[in-house]
Amino acid sequence: MIPNVADILIEALPYIRRFYGMTIVIKYGGHAMVDEQLKEDFARDITLMKFVGLNPVVVHGGGPQINLVLDRMGIRPRFVRGMRLTDQPTMDVVEMVLGGKVNKAIVAQINQQGGKAVGLSGKDGGLITAKKLQILHQENKSEPPEIIDPGLVGEVTHINPDIINTLTEQGFIPIVAPVGAGESGETYNINADLVAAKLAIALSAGRLVLLTDVDGVLDSAGSLISSMDAKTIRKMVEDKTISGGMIPKIECALDALENGVKKVQIINGAKRHALLLELFTDSGIGTEVTK
Ligand code: ARG
Repeated sequence: MIPNVADILIEALPYIRRFYGMTIVIKYGGHAMVDEQLKEDFARDITLMKFVGLNPVVVHGGGPQINLVLDRMGIRPRFVRGMRLTDQPTMDVVEMVLGGKVNKAIVAQINQQGGKAVGLSGKDGGLITAKKLQILHQENKSEPPEIIDPGLVGEVTHINPDIINTLTEQGFIPIVAPVGAGESGETYNINADLVAAKLAIALSAGRLVLLTDVDGVLDSAGSLISSMDAKTIRKMVEDKTISGGMIPKIECALDALENGVKKVQIINGAKRHALLLELFTDSGIGTEVTK
């Protein structure tokens, strides 16, 4: 049976009530950030969330956009052990593209829908302090792991959420580019999932939502797991049911759950209005993970 429109709206009521005044951090990335229709949908969803009383905070990625500009500028990618080396010229482009072009495009699109978005990088208001990320790489078990230096890639050491709280209280929607400042003023590029998780923790957010290009967490048969707890997900990482690009996302999710965030939702941003469908319906469309 096709539910009537009133039923759909009423289904959202308990969630609207529960979410009222709640801070919710959304990692925006992947397909949803390149497709024109999906971009507009996202801007609408965020604006709607704000106007029904949630406090959305968006953290965005921008890998493809960065690569495009690097390419145009003739900056050739250099790699260490398969990882892109972020040297100073590359970092300059990363900062320009993420904090400039990409960030402002999201801001403009939300404003067009009637929201009041404000773009920030982690440098603004001392929001994100970072340090150099050291990566351990072990080629084979008989040799000791080697430390890889990917350049100006950072991890979060401290979040000062004052600027976000100030903006939110005034009715603005903060849009954060994942760039942080080191202790001595150097600039670091930080993985956006990581920033989103740390921000959710620092803001005592009720929710962290990760927009990805997959439906959510899949079981060994490849079907979507709608709801699960942290223990189960940890087991699935250990027995390698979960692998590849999903692992760092899961680590971010677990970090958030262990540090006070009530629920993490992993959804497919390539589906239209994924955010609304996950948040305001009973069954959602992705995977919800609770403690
Ligand atoms: N809309 C509800 C919430 O956000 C339920 C979501 C259920 N999601 C799921 N993937 N099972 O809490």
